Amino acid sequence: MGKSSLLVCFSLFLVLPPCLAADPDLLQDICVADLSSNVKLNGFACKPAASITEADFFFRGLAVPGDTTNTTTGYLVTAANVEKIPGLNTLGVSFSRVDFAPGGLNPPHTHPRATEIVFVLDGTLDVGFLTTANKMVAETITKGDVFVFPRGLVHFQKNSGAVPAASISAFNSQLPGTQSIAATLFAASPPVPDHVLTEAFQIGTKEVEKIKSRLAPKKAAEEAVN
Ligand code: GLV
Ligand code: MN
Repeated sequence: MGKSSLLVCFSLFLVLPPCLAADPDLLQDICVADLSSNVKLNGFACKPAASITEADFFFRGLAVPGDTTNTTTGYLVTAANVEKIPGLNTLGVSFSRVDFAPGGLNPPHTHPRATEIVFVLDGTLDVGFLTTANKMVAETITKGDVFVFPRGLVHFQKNSGAVPAASISAFNSQLPGTQSIAATLFAASPPVPDHVLTEAFQIGTKEVEKIKSRLAPKKAAEEAVN
């Protein structure tokens, strides 16, 4: 590579934003989210320092098992992200707890903004993710085990046991975002047109309508992780 090409590469490196694999790095000690602010930026605006308290960094919600009764597939996610813990704003981490009824399934979904690492609190889970080459990487994990779902890849967890199960997940994002594959395609608003789904899944309109009616939002029993 000649001197001028090297100079161009170096200049591009300085000018272009760095390619980050997780939330951007912080520029100050803390920036507690002002969740009520109308200011829109990448994350949340900071609260005035004078109104920051311990409560901004505290959340007790993961101690209690989530109630999986009346959920469609027998699981409930309780998020501990920036929306619950404003002090997480700009820090690039969060947790969630997932409770599973016997046989409960956290259906295939992705987190566009984070890698997830799961730790089993109780029970046995069949877990797996799919690479972009369509290879499935799956494992049966039990109390005390850890498994990783790389950022953006479709993954699932199923309680294969006859007793309830629970897990804790950590994310390298304050708000990992969740797209559940079935709900994204069949319960969107406005809806994805039937002809797109019949062709994509090679099924008839009746089947598409049936899936849409089954996945239509019920009571908000399942808490979304945004
Ligand atoms: C589990 O996969 C979760 O997203 O909390
Ligand atoms: Mn997940």
